[in-house]
Amino acid sequence: MTKISVVFENNKKWVAEKLAIDENYFKSLAQGQNPEFLYIGCSDSRVTAEDLMGVKPGEVFIHRNLANLVNNVDLNVMSVLNYAVQELKVQHVVVCGHYNCGGIKAAMMPEDKGILNPWLRNIRDVYRLHRDELNAIKDEEKRYNRLVELNVQEQCVNLIKTAAVQKAYQERGLTVHGWVFDIHTGKLIDLKIDFPKILEGIMEIYKLF
Ligand code: CO
Repeated sequence: MTKISVVFENNKKWVAEKLAIDENYFKSLAQGQNPEFLYIGCSDSRVTAEDLMGVKPGEVFIHRNLANLVNNVDLNVMSVLNYAVQELKVQHVVVCGHYNCGGIKAAMMPEDKGILNPWLRNIRDVYRLHRDELNAIKDEEKRYNRLVELNVQEQCVNLIKTAAVQKAYQERGLTVHGWVFDIHTGKLIDLKIDFPKILEGIMEIYKLF
């Protein structure tokens, strides 16, 4: 069997398993979604959002890209964010990074990566903002891991700069969370980003209404 036909075989088994537990499983799924979370994570094949959160289809709205970036001019992430916050009315927006992130490492290499350059540049900007702290970490792996955490933090700040998040925070107390998935242990780490404090600190500049 080829890899592709294995996928379709797996799908048949999965459908059968779901229907054996609940014959209306797909009928209910088709009726709509009401997720409480928007998850923005890395595209890395080892970081599977539903598995690590233990959630079922319908529970989390998901966006994944290289190194879990929330870029102001990326129509893709901004569309997902606006749809999730304004239409689906999610209550929590999560940015989840992970240790050993290839995107983070690639961003720090002195190499021309072609079309990836403008995307990875966002990570170099995070490094520049936190240069003193990062340069003080001598161990390279620890330094990269800290950059992973700081990148998550800065993407949370980027979320707070958007009108959708500011409005939903005011209207219904929407919150932003920063997490890191530790690929060595499987554990999810809450960076405990102080959302109200960041909001207070940057609203002077980024308040949109
Ligand atoms: Co990654």
